[in-house]
Amino acid sequence: MTMTLDAQARKVTQAQLYINGEWVAPKNNQSFPTVDPNTGETIADIPRGDASDIDRAVAAAKAVAVEWQFTDAIARAALLRQLAALVTEHADELARLEALDSGHYLSKAQDLMGAIPLWLDYFAGLADKVGGRTIEVPGNKLSFTLLEPLGVTGHIIPWNYPLLILVRSCAPALALGNTCVVKPAEDTSLSALKFAELVHQAGFPPGVFNVVTGLGPEAGAALAAHPDVAGITFTGSTETGKTVAKLAADHVAQVNLELGGKSPTIVFPDADLDDAVEGAVQGFCSHAGQVCVAGTRLFVHADIKDAFLGKLVERLQTAQVGDGFDDSTQMGPLVSKKQYERVRNYIEVGKSEATLFYGGGKPAGTPEGGYFVEPTVFTDVTSDARISREEIFGPVASVITWTDENDLIAACNDSIYGLFAVIFTQNITKALNTARRLQVGGVMINEWFGELPMAPHGGYKQSGTGREEGLEAVHGYTQVKHVTVNLDGSLRSGADWAGAPL
Ligand code: NAI
Ligand code: MG
Repeated sequence: MTMTLDAQARKVTQAQLYINGEWVAPKNNQSFPTVDPNTGETIADIPRGDASDIDRAVAAAKAVAVEWQFTDAIARAALLRQLAALVTEHADELARLEALDSGHYLSKAQDLMGAIPLWLDYFAGLADKVGGRTIEVPGNKLSFTLLEPLGVTGHIIPWNYPLLILVRSCAPALALGNTCVVKPAEDTSLSALKFAELVHQAGFPPGVFNVVTGLGPEAGAALAAHPDVAGITFTGSTETGKTVAKLAADHVAQVNLELGGKSPTIVFPDADLDDAVEGAVQGFCSHAGQVCVAGTRLFVHADIKDAFLGKLVERLQTAQVGDGFDDSTQMGPLVSKKQYERVRNYIEVGKSEATLFYGGGKPAGTPEGGYFVEPTVFTDVTSDARISREEIFGPVASVITWTDENDLIAACNDSIYGLFAVIFTQNITKALNTARRLQVGGVMINEWFGELPMAPHGGYKQSGTGREEGLEAVHGYTQVKHVTVNLDGSLRSGADWAGAPL
């Protein structure tokens, strides 16, 4: 049965699992609430799928895997394009669900949903364009590789960009001939279930795409551990990513991990200060700081520190924090009570180890039960301070001043993470030298993050393995088969194999 959204009452009814092209209740008939983080009110009961439901979904995906692999790539692409059209048609409803469930403010959620077809189209386009290569082997032989799907892929999704992260991994998986089982985050399952309705409507064969909602340690762990799941894509915390990788290792599944970060925003003394301040604010306040690439370490050159901080305060004072359904809101709440308490705790830690320069409280006028936090800035932050080392995932930044470029690079790289960095300077040589020396998977110069389907995204060090998006994403959802054909027509003795006859 499909879901219905009562936008006025902020309630959703009839969420069910999507397995083998059907809407079903979890075997245990249990559910858990998901809340509107603007108010703390329950908006829906989400089915609490467990290992037995994951078994059903993986079995359905496995049963159809070979048929889907050998479906013409052009036909798989056509279905993805049909899905893109349906997402466009239903973008407003998807945006309302996403805003209600995750705390993205509505116009931002509308922008995000409007962009999702770009990912579906990009990977639809790749379906019939990627392939193997021919290899020059000795002798009269034809040697080549085939790029083949993994089979069943599992997708464990976080709550910060629920549908975008689902689509950026499922679109290449499906385009390249895999069948998918998705486990959304428990705080934000609704857009995934709505998306499943659109997959169904687009006409994907039953079993090709499945959604099992549930708790991480139950449904999530069962998916990662399932022996018939050949590849797992996980986005979320580094800690849970390690657990998922260990579970997957038990059956030697391929793993793509997109994990945490503590990204630097670097401001050189010659930077355009207004741009740098805007980039810095977007870097740690976008989606209330719940962004893997969030620029939470602001490395500001000592010569411009005072000017930078002055402009930073002016800019932060204009930031409208509030209910995501108010037109004026530019920053909504944190996703959950758990995340709110985690961020509040980090702010207390910060007060004990650095100077609270801006914010730190609950923004005035925000709804009572909501999980709102002011943009918060600490100064006098030492390199061993927890707030400058650990991923907070809230609108909290540490300002660190620097003078020497070598020290700057060393400080930026002194992190278990290596996801992303932003550099502000007018000097392109400095910018490019810095970009090369940073141990991160992505760099932006004179601009904050902008996620794109065609640019690879992922981390160095404990920020992850593998790459989402771009042509690089192909590696995450394919395996290589090598084929050699003897063109002599009969088997000769004395093989050419590296000079070593048996
Ligand atoms: P998490 O990493 O535990 O959750 C992400 C996903 O993993 C969810 O779907 C969850 O159900 C699932 N999961 C949880 N435990 C699992 C297990 N044992 N086996 C398989 N799947 C499991 O993140 P959480 O606890 O919601 O947030 C904690 C922190 O994680 C945040 O404060 C933030 O620092 C980080 N985080 C990072 C994200 C990123 O984009 N890099 C996204 C979400 C959280
Ligand atoms: Mg929610």
